[in-house]
Amino acid sequence: MSRMDHDGAATARPRRENGPFAGEFFRHPVRSGAVTETTTDCVNGFLDEARLDGARTVVELGAGSGAITAELATRLPEPAQLLAVEVSPALTARLRTRCPDVDVACASAFDLPELVRERDLPPVDLIVCSVPWTVMGEERDRFLSTARATLSDGGAFSTLLVAHRARDSGVAASWVGRHFTDVRAGRVQWRNLPPLRGLHAHAG
Ligand SMILES: C[S@@+](CC[C@H](N)C(=O)[O-])C[C@H]1O[C@@H](n2cnc3c(N)ncnc32)[C@H](O)[C@@H]1O
Repeated sequence: MSRMDHDGAATARPRRENGPFAGEFFRHPVRSGAVTETTTDCVNGFLDEARLDGARTVVELGAGSGAITAELATRLPEPAQLLAVEVSPALTARLRTRCPDVDVACASAFDLPELVRERDLPPVDLIVCSVPWTVMGEERDRFLSTARATLSDGGAFSTLLVAHRARDSGVAASWVGRHFTDVRAGRVQWRNLPPLRGLHAHAG
């Protein structure tokens, strides 16, 4: 797809990968949690709020077909490393084609400590994720505790949620607040259906 810039010239707009994503949703609706991947505008707004500066290792959990990964890779500060973790083999294959320079693990987020250990990565300073929180049930606490245990002290945690759930003192902030400090909601990203919003926190 292309759009016109202010001079009337066509500028490239990143291509979205909704085909593989929709297929995954029909195979595993609960695990995938969305019919389409996150829009480019939403990804950009979310990542503008994430703390990438000075990160040595950045991990993305639930990378899907790579909507966030592709942009994250372009924003990564030198010489930081990026590890993308996605549980679906079909989406992982798509992700590897789309982001050939990114280290992609086809694994569960619960395996994160092992994935980091076996790669001998520098300390993880930022974890970014967009996973189906609302249907995770009891696994939510285990997920957050795994993320916290992997992050360096003072590291940052940023997740995307359906906007109405991601309020500063809402329910989602309280789940996150059990494991992290300084939980704050970002701006609502209206250019996504449904609108999403980042929740950002620190490993205290
Ligand atoms: C809402 S989608 C988001 C995908 C992508 N990050 C995006 O923004 O377009 C959630 C993704 O999390 C993945 N996922 C769900 N549970 C997971 C787990 N335990 N470990 C790793 N990935 C998981 C799903 O397969 C799906 O690709």
